[in-house]
Amino acid sequence: MTPLPPKVVCLGSLNMDLVIQVQRAPAEGETVEGDSIRYVPGGKGANQAVSCARQGARVSMMGRVGPDHHGEILCEALKQDGILVKGVSVDPDEPTGVAMVMVEEGGLNRIVVIAGANGKVSLDESQLVQELSDAQFLVMQFEVPMAQVLQAAKVASRLGCKVVLNPSPAKQLPEELWPLVDVMIVNETEARFLTGLSADTDPQVAAQAGQRLMAKGVTQVVVTLGALGAVATDDGGSTYHPAPPVQVVDTTAAGDTFLGVVTVGLACRQSLATSVNLGIRASTLCIQTLGAQPSIPTLAQTLQNSSVPSWISL
Ligand code: RIB
Repeated sequence: MTPLPPKVVCLGSLNMDLVIQVQRAPAEGETVEGDSIRYVPGGKGANQAVSCARQGARVSMMGRVGPDHHGEILCEALKQDGILVKGVSVDPDEPTGVAMVMVEEGGLNRIVVIAGANGKVSLDESQLVQELSDAQFLVMQFEVPMAQVLQAAKVASRLGCKVVLNPSPAKQLPEELWPLVDVMIVNETEARFLTGLSADTDPQVAAQAGQRLMAKGVTQVVVTLGALGAVATDDGGSTYHPAPPVQVVDTTAAGDTFLGVVTVGLACRQSLATSVNLGIRASTLCIQTLGAQPSIPTLAQTLQNSSVPSWISL
């Protein structure tokens, strides 16, 4: 009998991204003409759910949208990827979350998020138990209330479901959350916020940041370094995974793509280093396409990507 693919539950945000392309972002007090505007399904939670689903996992999404067209479009987009959305509730009073994503020539972005219904996610214990009891991994970020993140982590840990946390946007964790986190994936900005270490250009510093986060109770840490790649740290030490140079169109959802690939890799019992390598391949593809969810590759596309990075033990 073929074993079922791993099940991942994703608790997080769903946003409609208003993607505006500009040659360069306006300075203070300045008006510039943009090149285009598109409405693209996004939100860190939904993007990570899509990434997990495109790697072949069975995925359930838990979150909240408003009673509006954006909410319907976002849920429909998740369903197209085979993601179950019965855990996505509709808030009667708040609009669906919106993110204004300004993408400059060269691919760098600036994002402003209006949480809307994401800020009203409210789950009862029995709903969490039902979703998490047969799941291998719970994936979360910080675009939904911290109290819900903590509650879900407690239930997951009690049920033996591993917790993957992307503390983004960066916020301090409640002390009791740290030891409930099995895998933490942070970018260089979040690593600096949580550890005080500037890892931006130095994989050795990223390894130290990983060790500091492990000292707080996390089992495995990955610090992503943008164009430089990523550093993975666990009790076996640290490995540096360089990223291949590519033409960047838009970096939106690169981190979400990476997280989904690493999560499903681990759920399929790949090593952390192998999972991170695959994650880098996938995010390298993601940044070559505009928008969040449309840019997330499938496993087949990731495996075809010939830019195969290797890793270096630190
Ligand atoms: O991580 C990228 C996402 O951050 C965007 O899709 C936007 O919605 C914000 O949540």
